[in-house]
Amino acid sequence: MARRRIIAGNWKMNKTPSEAVALCAELKDLVKNDAVDVVYCVPAIDIVPVVEAVKGTNVKVGAENFYIEDKGAFTGEISAPMLKDAGVEYIIIGHSERRDIFGENDILINQKVKKAFAAGLSPILCCGESLALRKADTYKAWIERQITWDLDGVTADQVKKLIIAYEPIWAIGTGETATADQAEEVCGLIRELIAKLYDQATADEVRIQYGGSMNAGNAAELLSKPNIDGGLIGGASLKPDFGQIVNA
Ligand code: PGA
Repeated sequence: MARRRIIAGNWKMNKTPSEAVALCAELKDLVKNDAVDVVYCVPAIDIVPVVEAVKGTNVKVGAENFYIEDKGAFTGEISAPMLKDAGVEYIIIGHSERRDIFGENDILINQKVKKAFAAGLSPILCCGESLALRKADTYKAWIERQITWDLDGVTADQVKKLIIAYEPIWAIGTGETATADQAEEVCGLIRELIAKLYDQATADEVRIQYGGSMNAGNAAELLSKPNIDGGLIGGASLKPDFGQIVNA
């Protein structure tokens, strides 16, 4: 079955609210493409102005983080219902920076996936191995374990709406991209795993992105692979290059 391509920017901790609005204006005409889902995942403080700035365009808004409770005494956190009410549709979960810098583990990530679905948000679930695991040739087992834990208790119908981003940590922000064949190998493996954990119909529907130094120069080759349905783009999502990736 044909899966709809999804190109998502991960702005990380970049752009003040006024800079965010300016970037939306700069990219507006460059990211026009009705055949592709285009998403800007932005810092929490940019959500409200970005939702306003992309109104009437093909761009959807995503968040980069949330906490699993709906409300209460959790100083500094924001909840899934808050994001939903603000106009957010997608949410990045399990990014390697959240795992490594903020100590998020697969138990919390699994709770976040379930909470996001319950709140009506579409998770972009990230997985990926370190350089050490890649060199030790244990990366396949690592990715299988991450996905299996992170999807515990998640239904097949939910997985059909899930986006999984394969992001080898050694390729994030380093300028070193996985080759298209390396990316396709793992994205194919993830799809096989979904078929094993669920069924073939679910595996055929789940969308799998590659992320890690994707740019205007390498996007077309990566996106031509049968199991790569899109990209999660950091650095290049903050530049006009993002338009070239959307239209690659
Ligand atoms: P990068 O980041 O494109 O800057 O490598 C990707 C990501 O971390 O999502």
